[in-house]
Amino acid sequence: MSFSIAGTGSALPREIVTNEKLGTFLDTSDEWIKSRTGIETRHVCTDETLKGLSVSAGLDAMKEAGIDASQLDLIICSTISSDHIVPSLACEVQNALGAVCPAFDINAACSGFLYALDIAEGYFKKKKDSKILIIAADAMSRLVDWRDRSICVLFADGAGAVVLTQGNDLCAIKLTATGDDKVIVANGLQGNSPFFEKEPYDPFVSMNGQEVYRFAVSSSVRDLKQVLEMANLQEEDIDLVLLHQANARILEAVSTRMKIAEDKFPSNISHCGNTSSASIPILLDELNREGKLKPGMMLAMSAFGGGLTSGACILRWQGTNLA
Ligand code: ACO
Repeated sequence: MSFSIAGTGSALPREIVTNEKLGTFLDTSDEWIKSRTGIETRHVCTDETLKGLSVSAGLDAMKEAGIDASQLDLIICSTISSDHIVPSLACEVQNALGAVCPAFDINAACSGFLYALDIAEGYFKKKKDSKILIIAADAMSRLVDWRDRSICVLFADGAGAVVLTQGNDLCAIKLTATGDDKVIVANGLQGNSPFFEKEPYDPFVSMNGQEVYRFAVSSSVRDLKQVLEMANLQEEDIDLVLLHQANARILEAVSTRMKIAEDKFPSNISHCGNTSSASIPILLDELNREGKLKPGMMLAMSAFGGGLTSGACILRWQGTNLA
């Protein structure tokens, strides 16, 4: 007994920012960004809040699952960029939906959606007929330095959601963490303590791009092979691999090393950019709404990110109530 994905949802900010637009205030070009990352456009918050995007994605997933807020047993939000530190994004969503269940946030950076699935699986062991709303949402536009062309062109904003109900979709899942404070870092609030003695620090995301690339490809290949083994499956049994949408080149490298055809790696990076932990559930929702997921399909998911964290899972898609 694990769970079934009974509904999916997603929400993106209205504002679409093209590579050409970035070139109006940064020394960059469409050619550089597209060839290095596969990104052509991304959605960036203007007047939207992360709460608003999360509630919209969550409502879509709940509508599809045919449940209302009073039936939810748990809300888990994955985010590193919520509107407030307190209340948590999950508590804000709970309040907006009118739910009465426990709600909390997790921070596993880009791997957060898979971490949330693993936590949810444990909850289903406690109460089989649970109904759990998972929302992964990030406004990375808040965390990047818009003067730094090496970082801000990569990231974007959005929210993806799933409703989990009693079922048997999950075949295998594994998570990893390797504590590291150099490869990807986003510093927290510095505050204004009169007792603080260190130099003021840069609040923005910093990243060693080449190290991230190596970590992403090696951890994804390792994790996918391990979950295949745990589920007693072969590469050819997998219908689609939903990889964290960080970079088209990472996707190509994982496809080559796994010897799984690139057309089994759906991607929305060209129009969504890297939305951190929201990227896999946004992609899942797009595929679901485009009718590309058929009951019985075997889906692999793999994510990697700051922490450093990674995770992979295999799910047998049973189909949702999408009209
Ligand atoms: N436009 C134009 N030139 C740029 C830009 C830009 N936006 N950004 C960097 N450059 C320049 C650099 O200044 C450098 O110039 P120089 O040679 O004159 O010094 C040159 O391009 C090469 O810079 P590198 O950083 O070496 O570029 P690289 O080829 O490694 O590509 C990239 C950078 C795309 C980030 C690559 O390292 C990569 O794919 N890394 C994977 C990391 C990733 O995708 N992270 C996503 C977020 S993390 C996550 O989701 C887990």
